[in-house]
Order: sequence, then C-alpha cells, then structure tokens
Amino acid sequence: MPNIIIVGAQWGDEGKGKIVDFLTETSDVVARSQGGNNAGHTVVNNDTKYVLHLVPSGILWEDKQCVIGNGVVIDPIGLVQEIETLEGQGVKISPENLTISERAHITLPAHRSLDAAREAGLGQKKIGTTGRGIGPTYADKALRTGLRMAHLRDPDTFREKARVRTEEANEVLKGVGLEEVDFDATFPEFEKAAKRLVTHLGDTAVKLHTAIKGGKSVLFEGSQGTYLDIDHGTYPFVTSSNTTAGGACTGSGVSPRVIDCVVGVAKAYTTRVGGGPFITEDAEFSAKLHALGLEFGATTGRARRCGWLDLVLLRYATIVNGFDEIALTILDGLDDMESIQVCVAYEFDGNTITTPPSTMEEWARCKPVYETLPGWLSDTTGIRKFSDLPENARAYLDKVTEATDVPVTLVGVGPDREQTLRRD
Ligand code: GDP
Ligand code: IMO
Ligand code: MG
Repeated sequence: MPNIIIVGAQWGDEGKGKIVDFLTETSDVVARSQGGNNAGHTVVNNDTKYVLHLVPSGILWEDKQCVIGNGVVIDPIGLVQEIETLEGQGVKISPENLTISERAHITLPAHRSLDAAREAGLGQKKIGTTGRGIGPTYADKALRTGLRMAHLRDPDTFREKARVRTEEANEVLKGVGLEEVDFDATFPEFEKAAKRLVTHLGDTAVKLHTAIKGGKSVLFEGSQGTYLDIDHGTYPFVTSSNTTAGGACTGSGVSPRVIDCVVGVAKAYTTRVGGGPFITEDAEFSAKLHALGLEFGATTGRARRCGWLDLVLLRYATIVNGFDEIALTILDGLDDMESIQVCVAYEFDGNTITTPPSTMEEWARCKPVYETLPGWLSDTTGIRKFSDLPENARAYLDKVTEATDVPVTLVGVGPDREQTLRRD
C-alpha cells in the first residue's frame, strides 16, 4: 500500500481537503504534519459541508486513523471547538481515531496577540496572516522557548511556563501600545480546552512507524501550499512552516525512504489570500469567479485574489516537491471562459525567465508571458468519467503536463466527493 504526500502546489486552498478525502478510501492513516488552524480544508459529501482546520480530513471516514504530527502547531481552544463542531455534524472523534503528537507546539492566547501586533506594526506592508498566532508559535519553537503538548500532562509546570511566556509577550505588546493579555482571566478557558486533549496525546512518530511496518498506508495531508513555504515561497509573504513535501517527513517523524508518491494539488487557475506577489492576478477574472460564489476563504471568509494558471510556479513546485502526479481541481471554474490564458514564463528586465525570483524587489519587476488556449464552453460538473471531458479541457490538462512533465491523474469538476475524476 502506498504512502502518499499531498502538497498544495500554489498559495494554498487548492482543494487538498477534497483530494485527501477522495484518497482516504484507499489509505489507513491520515496525518497532518505542519501548519495549524490557519488551514481551512473543505470537504463536501452528499451536500454536507465539513470545514477542517487542525483535524485531518480523514476523520470523515469512520474506520480510519488520524494523526496530528509533531510539526503542527495547536491552539487547544480552536481544536476543541473544531472537534465539537464536527461532533455536532455526526463525526465520531475519540482517542481511538485521533492521536495528537506530544511534541507538537502549543499556540497560546499571547501568540495570537503577538500575531495581531506584528501585523499592525507592518501597516500597509502587512502579510495578511490568518491571525491565528501561527508565526509567533513557530518563532517560539525556533527560539526554544515554546511549549509542547506533553507539557499539558503536568498542569502546574504548564501553567507556570505559560505565565512566563505570556508575561514576555506582554512586554512586547506594551511596547507597541497594544492591549496586554490578562493571563488569569484567559487561562482557565485555555486550560479547560487543553485538558480535553490530554487523552489524545501519544508518540505519533512511533505510531506511524508501527502502522507502516505493519503494512498500513499513510496519507500525509499538507496544509497551505508551496509558495507559502518558509524556504521556497514568496518570502516574506509566506507562512512559518515547510509546506513542501519534505515538511511531511520532518513534521511527522516518518523517514523519506518510505514515501512512495507525492501528489501536487493545483487549481486549474491560481488564487491567493493575503498580501504578496501574484504575477497572473486578474481583477476581471476574480470578479467572474466571485460572482459564481467561488473563492471565499474557508478560515477567514476573505475573498481570494484570483488569476490565470501560472506554469512557472507549477514547474518550480514540481522541482521542490518531486511530484509524481498532479490533481487539478476546479476545472469547472473555467467552464464559461471563451479563451484561457496560461503563464508560461516571466519577462524580467527585458529577459525571459522560467523560474521564480527570490526577492520582493525582483518579483516587482516580473511580468507574465501568456499563451492563450481555447476554452471548452460547456458544463463539466456532471461529468463522471475522465475520458468524457471536452477535448479542449483535455488539451488544457496536456498543457500542464507539457510544462511540468507530470501526469494529471485526478481532476475536480465540483466540490462534491463524487466530482473527482481519476484518469481512466
Ligand atoms: P484546501 O485548503 O486546499 O483544502 O482548499 P479549500 O477547501 O480551502 O478551498 C477549496 C474550495 O474549492 C473549497 O470550497 C472546495 O469545496 C472547493 N472545491 C474543491 N475542488 C473543487 C472542484 O473541483 N470544483 C469546485 N467547483 N469546487 C471545488
Ligand atoms: P490551507 O491549508 C491559503 C496565508 C495567509 C497569509 C500567509 C501567512 O487552507 O491551504 P499565517 O496565518 O499562516 O501566518 O499567514 O499565509 N495562509 C493561507 N492561505 N490557505 C491556507 O491554508 C493558508 N494558511 C495561511 O493568508 O497570506
Ligand atoms: Mg483552505
């Protein structure tokens, strides 16, 4: 049974949740290995919509095991709320099917305040974060001042460490004139949520290792996307973890040697939420998609910025992740387009470049070089067989393969579970 890494190939929200849900049927364990509740993964099944933030999308399949790995950052209040919402939708969650790494780092209320403070300080140049405290939690991890889930087993030590960290954060907040965190007022709610999670804790690296040794297959559910990766993304307009394929191994404790396949999930066009460069952004195209009710964020509800498919980004994402296959989602979003543009290169200071630059200053000097392809002007949402896709739609998929040298094996023609087509 293959162990598969699912990676976002663009700036997140590519439809990873839907693809993970689709592939969970043939997997045993689904693991998250980076990010936190900045993620919002939507799965639609029989007209019921589930939005997952920290809980792996595999939880929607009753007989599957789910793991939140060491590389994830966890806001206990957010996670407990999410579990309760899912339980309210009839999803069963217990220590039997959800194991949380005792090494995962904890997001405190102070981290959220620091996130807001940093954004406020940046003014017009703000990153446009999700406000979930992700950057400050990972910063504490790197500074070696963070708190791990295992600390929750010793409430007195945990409380003391959380108090010290909150006092330090308050110094920063005071310095920039922002409201300080009232530790005594906020801690009880936080502690109550944290206690609810203790029974889920375990050594998830050992759990995954044992599962794989026993012949079980693991699906790694990436969050965010390649261009939000702290190393390979459009820095500093990125998130604070490694969202690329390697992050699945470091964030789970699973060896790269047991990975069989990496699937890149890309939209048939491009979107991004928050600030930062976006070469193929197109206001008219954005307006069209928003009018169709598409492209509003699952976590913050923000309207996503939209633009044409950027093959420069997709090609580079293939390099840094090693995609074996590409899942192309929301092909139906292009159903009404008479003609479709794809960006095949960038013009940079009078030259043509085919890989992304590394600084904001260089990004600002890039312009898209487009090729125009004919649309298919037909409704694909009712199609259930890959070979029934219109000829021009298939030519569009071929263009992606031509640019990346990777086959498009899955195509999305709607949000529902049954609207994912596998190449036949
Ligand atoms: P993720 O963060 O990568 O899991 O993606 P999100 O769930 O944030 O955003 C993807 C959005 O597109 C969600 O609203 C999905 O329900 C929706 N979606 C996924 N695949 C398709 C598709 O093939 N067609 C359409 N129309 N919507 C899709
Ligand atoms: P999923 O898993 C889209 C973006 C934010 C911001 C930047 C940094 O649903 O694809 P952060 O809160 O992480 O410090 O914000 O990253 N961002 C996402 N954009 N999808 C996501 O997750 C995102 N998670 C973070 O909008 O630009
Ligand atoms: Mg999302």
